[in-house]
Amino acid sequence: MANLSPRSTAAAPAGWSTLHRHHIGVDVGGSTMKYAVVDVAGGSLTTPVTERPTPAPSTPDAVAHALSGVVEELSARPEAPDPEASVGVAIPAIVRNGVACSAAHIDDAWLGLDVRRFLSERLGRTVQVINDADAAGLAEVRYGAGRSGSGTVLLITLGTGIGSALIVDGKLVPNLELGHVELDGLDAEVRAAAVAREREHLDWAAYAERLQRYLAHLEFLFSPDLIIVGGDISARHEEFLPRLHLRTPVVVAELRNSAGIVGAARHAYLTLPPLDD
Ligand code: BGC
Repeated sequence: MANLSPRSTAAAPAGWSTLHRHHIGVDVGGSTMKYAVVDVAGGSLTTPVTERPTPAPSTPDAVAHALSGVVEELSARPEAPDPEASVGVAIPAIVRNGVACSAAHIDDAWLGLDVRRFLSERLGRTVQVINDADAAGLAEVRYGAGRSGSGTVLLITLGTGIGSALIVDGKLVPNLELGHVELDGLDAEVRAAAVAREREHLDWAAYAERLQRYLAHLEFLFSPDLIIVGGDISARHEEFLPRLHLRTPVVVAELRNSAGIVGAARHAYLTLPPLDD
């Protein structure tokens, strides 16, 4: 596989065509895969966000097959990225050097898998892999709710689980797993993820009370300058954000359900192989 080197800026190198700024981003969730082509210069989507179900069981083989279909579908579009452009994939797992070190809402067969290598081989393209919440965090601090500030930004995604990303002065501290800190004697995500609200038929006041205790705990631990709340539930932010009382400003993720896609694409861009020229 190509030697990888980080790029520190989103500015396209001189001589690159617009197409080189376009990357496919895929956010693989426990139940749904969302994807689009992203222009990483401004974080905009050049195709609509499309969804397909995550295969069940979500084995690496099944997901790789589905991802091939995604790449094929997007490659047929006029906005298709250059085939050389790497593909960004966000997964709900701790990812270290491309290897999945946990498997929260995906099949256990991912554990220990070199996902970057496996998917690159299966898709015939360079694939870069990142934790889903880290992807959303990267996107929000670059293009979304955290773009105007420096300091410590904490992004929390509320979905099937709770994802978290910590970005300090624009630099991601990867693989924070704050969905697994304890709340009421259980993993916080069991108590306060968006699905907990549905599973336990909590009204918004009761759900906000749990979020309040959870976020107050994180605020105490990390003293962030800004907390961004994302995940599909952020579309209903007016139901719970006004009920939260923290010292830290709490805002809704601006990129909403595309943050993971945009962040995955940006991650792919940031870890492009060196240019040949
Ligand atoms: C996982 C995280 C993931 C989050 C959101 C948690 O259960 O441990 O890695 O980011 O869910 O999908």
